[in-house]
Amino acid sequence: MSSLAQTSDIGLGQQTKSLVFYSEFDDPTEWREALLAELPDLDFRVYPDVGDPDSVAYALAWRPPSGFFEPFRNIELVVNLGAGVDSLTGRDDLPDVPICRLSDPGMVALMRSYVLFSVIRYARDMDDFEAAQRRREWHYIHPTPLDKVRVGVLGLGALGSAAAQGLADTGFDVRGWDMSPKELPGVTVETDPAKWGAFLGDLDILVNMMPLTAGTRGMIDASVFDALSPGTKFVNASRGEVVDEDALLAALQSGQVGAATLDVFCTEPLPSEHPFWAMENVYITPHLASITVPESAARDVAESIRRISAGQSPLHQVNPKAGF
Ligand code: GLV
Repeated sequence: MSSLAQTSDIGLGQQTKSLVFYSEFDDPTEWREALLAELPDLDFRVYPDVGDPDSVAYALAWRPPSGFFEPFRNIELVVNLGAGVDSLTGRDDLPDVPICRLSDPGMVALMRSYVLFSVIRYARDMDDFEAAQRRREWHYIHPTPLDKVRVGVLGLGALGSAAAQGLADTGFDVRGWDMSPKELPGVTVETDPAKWGAFLGDLDILVNMMPLTAGTRGMIDASVFDALSPGTKFVNASRGEVVDEDALLAALQSGQVGAATLDVFCTEPLPSEHPFWAMENVYITPHLASITVPESAARDVAESIRRISAGQSPLHQVNPKAGF
């Protein structure tokens, strides 16, 4: 499918069309280079230096401020600079044009590595060895064979599936949970709500990969933690708001949840006075389990721009009003 590789469409002869970039975390220089390698004629603008707002046809943005889209009357495409579209959900300034998310192999590989690391750290007792080293103690724990470690992955979208598959390929006993059936070699997939409690109660490690939607906000609550076997470990690499943090805190304090690896929080940055910081059984990373990799993601963004220019649907289109 190379017929759409017509960079000259971007200018459309009459008026130059520009792309506006917004992110507090991603490097515009890297994105400019990666996108211009694909679309040399693209007028790449970094917010707030947008030039003529009427020329802005495309937005590539991560969590733009409220009202961001209002000046761009001729916008044709919005690309969410990330996987989770929850920051666009419910905005009242969203233009009525196709909205897409990023899903690139670099992002998938980073997420798989984060989940693998977090699960292996618990499965191979590395958290105990870290604590033992702080005490200068030679603390032998006989390793558990990986196929005896039961890992549950909640949410089998693009990132959750890759994580579950990576865990299965590494030799864990992996069980996935999703609303709809999925085929993943080596992963037992459960979708039946009647089996939810049994699913939760038969795990050593629970990994949350659920996207944040109106339906998943707060879904991992006290009832979920109560249904786990005492001491089950928990990993959250999706969104903080999917978890009831007070319930998690209580479960960590009581030992019902043995330990947690948390990349995401209801409030980010996690406030310095938050009790999680001081807990021996909590491992905190600052929301970077997965990021977009411009070299690979720019190909998809460019292809979406070409498709829009040719009157076609972009890649990875979502419906943020529905939450995904
Ligand atoms: C990161 O959290 C993303 O959604 O890409």
